[in-house]
Amino acid sequence: TTTITPLIAGNWKMNGLRASLDELTALAEMMTAGEAPRAIVVICPPATILAAVARQGATSGILAGGQDCHPAASGAHTGDIAAGMLADAGAQYVIVGHSERRAAHGETDDIVRAKAEAAIGAGLKPIICVGETEAERDGGSAESVVVSQLAGSIPDAAGQHDVIVAYEPVWAIGTGRTPSNDDIAQMHDAIRRQLVTRFGDKGQAIHILYGGSLKPQNAREILAISNVNGGLVGGASLLAKDFATIISAV
Ligand code: G3P
Repeated sequence: TTTITPLIAGNWKMNGLRASLDELTALAEMMTAGEAPRAIVVICPPATILAAVARQGATSGILAGGQDCHPAASGAHTGDIAAGMLADAGAQYVIVGHSERRAAHGETDDIVRAKAEAAIGAGLKPIICVGETEAERDGGSAESVVVSQLAGSIPDAAGQHDVIVAYEPVWAIGTGRTPSNDDIAQMHDAIRRQLVTRFGDKGQAIHILYGGSLKPQNAREILAISNVNGGLVGGASLLAKDFATIISAV
């Protein structure tokens, strides 16, 4: 089996002002105080402070990512941000297809795949999000929903370029609820099988992150599950102390 360096990404969502850069300073201090982090650390702040996060992170080994990008490279798309602009601001990653965007902005698998392609084209690593709703989990279709989201959302270019998959059960996001360790293991195994079927050896090396109420209290056990190669953290990434605890739990 391939060893994958774990990746811990913080998704700040629509939270963060310039003053939040202090939290980043605190995080950098915590990360350098103890032993060197075993994980790649990424912060995805709002676009308004992305360049500042990237600049500040560069001195402490914290990488920056966007939270979304437009499929096009430029043009008449008021309010949207192109992947190339994120890269220009210092991002190395970008989240695409987060369930909040799928739900609130009607993003389909086709749109998410186009965004992931644009990200790759701009030299970014897309963090492609998938995950079932509570009704789908209760109805027994969680795995088939995720498998079909993966098939539709991951571009063929993932065979030659780095992409990251984030499994975020919608009902676990911001709720304090998480699937059982067995359910997480089963889903991550299913995702790995599909990645390997489609991309061969490359599929063995793709990060599969878990997201959804990942907290300091549950990070150690969740991050130890096989085929969990890190986490995508929402709420608990806003406080340096909590995020640092999660980083040191890998
Ligand atoms: O993208 C991360 C996210 O959706 C999980 O949020 O607040 O449950 O950690 P949270």
